[in-house]
Amino acid sequence: DLYDVDGVLFPEYFTTDPVQRLQDIKNLVARDDDVVIVAYPKAGTHWVWEMTNMLLRQTTDYHQSMKEAQMIELTETSVIDKLDSPRVLNTHLPFDKLPTDMIKRRCKLIYITRNPKDMAVSRYCHNSKGVVGYKGTFSDYLPLYMKGQVAFGSWFDFTNDWTKVIEDKSDYPIHTLVYEQLKRNTTEEVSKLASFLGLKKDPSFIQDVCDKCSFTQLKDSYMKAKQIHLFKDNHNPQAYAFRKGQIGDWKNWFTVAQNEMFDAEILKKMPSLADSFIYE
Ligand code: A3P
Repeated sequence: DLYDVDGVLFPEYFTTDPVQRLQDIKNLVARDDDVVIVAYPKAGTHWVWEMTNMLLRQTTDYHQSMKEAQMIELTETSVIDKLDSPRVLNTHLPFDKLPTDMIKRRCKLIYITRNPKDMAVSRYCHNSKGVVGYKGTFSDYLPLYMKGQVAFGSWFDFTNDWTKVIEDKSDYPIHTLVYEQLKRNTTEEVSKLASFLGLKKDPSFIQDVCDKCSFTQLKDSYMKAKQIHLFKDNHNPQAYAFRKGQIGDWKNWFTVAQNEMFDAEILKKMPSLADSFIYE
């Protein structure tokens, strides 16, 4: 079940009152060194979140035990207020729902994109387990995903809106990361991220960050920590955050007809972006 609050579809398992939450988010007191990761669900937030924390804190110790408490729409303001700086927050919200103070202070935003077919598969696998517990097949799920009848709404809308924000606000500090590029050229992309964050780039430190955040190592660290305090009935991190970590798994799921339908929808809804996604 989803609650539509001012155009944002909140999932019913969010415990806080969504109307109040959106207001509280708008009024959140920001800090100049806050960094916010913006991504549609399953674009790789956990991965980027961990790397960003390591870069900012200049340590390769995992910081993951706090992660779920730093998603803006899931966390009470009183909890966010108490987090140590530098805070790395994350969100699936559109730009106009972000805290006013954060935009005023020009807090840095990291926007992650990923090819939507892999994200649809990743999300279906996530939603079929644990707290969401979706019971249908992938064929049942895909039309819902394409129509945006999923938490946080349509991927098409999210991507079109954020693309426009990035174009229109060219003087606002937003750094775009493409999941597939990050996967293929991790060191180079993390080095660019460090520059964006205003950090010095020590090649061996950057390499250590990349290694500690490789799919295997990061997954192992979460499995050992079992830190999923908000998803209590879903204690297996693999079930939701570290499944395969590959490019192109969608080919194992989409039929030819589904793929054609998805491509047609992309051409219709975002013609100028249609060629920009990396599918394999
Ligand atoms: P898959 O389900 O395709 O494996 P999010 O953190 O936004 O929920 O995204 C989860 C997706 O990112 C999952 O995709 C997950 O496996 C992938 N992922 C997590 N850590 C990764 C890493 N270190 N390298 C590559 N992919 C990673």
